[in-house]
Amino acid sequence: ALKSCYIGKARKDNMRSYSHVQPQASYKVAVLGAAGGIGQPLTLLIKMSPLVSALHLYDIANVKGVAADLSHCNTPSQVLDFTGASELAACLKGVNVVVIPAGVPRKPGMTRDDLFNINANIVKTLVEAVADNCPDAFIHIISNPVNSTLPIAAEVLKQKGVYDPKKLFGVTTLDVVRANTFVAQKKNLKLIDVDVPVIGGHAGITILPLLSKTKPSVTFTDEEVHELTVRIQNAGTEVVEAKAGAGSATLSMAYAAARFVESSLRALDGDSDVYECTFVQSDLTDLPFFASRVKLGRNGVEALISSDLQGLTEYEQNALEALKPELNASIEKGISFIQKQP
Ligand code: NAD
Ligand code: LMR
Repeated sequence: ALKSCYIGKARKDNMRSYSHVQPQASYKVAVLGAAGGIGQPLTLLIKMSPLVSALHLYDIANVKGVAADLSHCNTPSQVLDFTGASELAACLKGVNVVVIPAGVPRKPGMTRDDLFNINANIVKTLVEAVADNCPDAFIHIISNPVNSTLPIAAEVLKQKGVYDPKKLFGVTTLDVVRANTFVAQKKNLKLIDVDVPVIGGHAGITILPLLSKTKPSVTFTDEEVHELTVRIQNAGTEVVEAKAGAGSATLSMAYAAARFVESSLRALDGDSDVYECTFVQSDLTDLPFFASRVKLGRNGVEALISSDLQGLTEYEQNALEALKPELNASIEKGISFIQKQP
């Protein structure tokens, strides 16, 4: 059976597949923050997936119009809208994948950590509802600062007694998407072939592209490595500055998040060849959470890919050591935010 979308690796039959009347699988996906800058294009891309039978849109406002609009696309999934806390439980019941892009974005001059005070509470409240209503779902955390919001989500799920570390993901796909794009441009490669693993976390120097592990194998000068690494680390800021107060990356983020959703659905559907970089509970380093390539399966993370961390260049090894204190501090900030709640 045809089980591919146009996003990510499986592109072969895309244009043919997304207008089928019947879904090719029956997964339900919820997007929390669906009326936002990321939420709108993301729900459009998910609406095009043949693996989705129901798409639940939740936000605190403006979601009815987005859902009405989206529901006119002649793709299989049924679109339902849910507004405000009183409808959150209904939104989440029976859902297989929950994507959370709810929260405020950066403006020029801000770090992702500057969003902590507002977004920590938003993520806490939403993940509590996920724990109560669909504890078996894959949970994709997009809201920044991901280095802290993912540990917040883990603590909330632990307190609720439903934490499954294999099913909780910080979405770092955009770092890979950017790395692939910038490397292909720089080295004049066919974009579709390029794959750069990005490890660590999702802010500044915690974003570490492993250029030495680029596929297909490419050689870089030291200057190229430094220039590309810094550009990938600052790519979010590049967009924030270009948008000049109107928010941060939304379209490329929606593209990246849709790829991660599609990969999750393929894994749930039994595809045994699904790999993505993501920020998860990890024992690959001495940090409790770490982004790396993982193998995805029906039950979530099937394996952490440790081979990427072997044979690093001196530049990468130094950058890895340099990122650990900052990443650890962000993780601890998230954990203590929940543990210190009365
Ligand atoms: P946005 O302001 O355009 O949209 C956010 C949406 O969240 C709004 O529709 C808002 O109503 C909704 N919202 C706020 N509080 C909510 C709540 N309690 N429950 C449900 N929905 C709520 O922002 P955006 O550009 O879509 O960005 C959203 C988040 O994603 C930001 O924190 C941003 O920093 C982050 N982000 C992460 C990545 C990544 O790579 N992980 C990339 C880009 C942006
Ligand atoms: C990004 O990488 O684009 C996001 O994390 C948004 C931001 O604030 O940079």
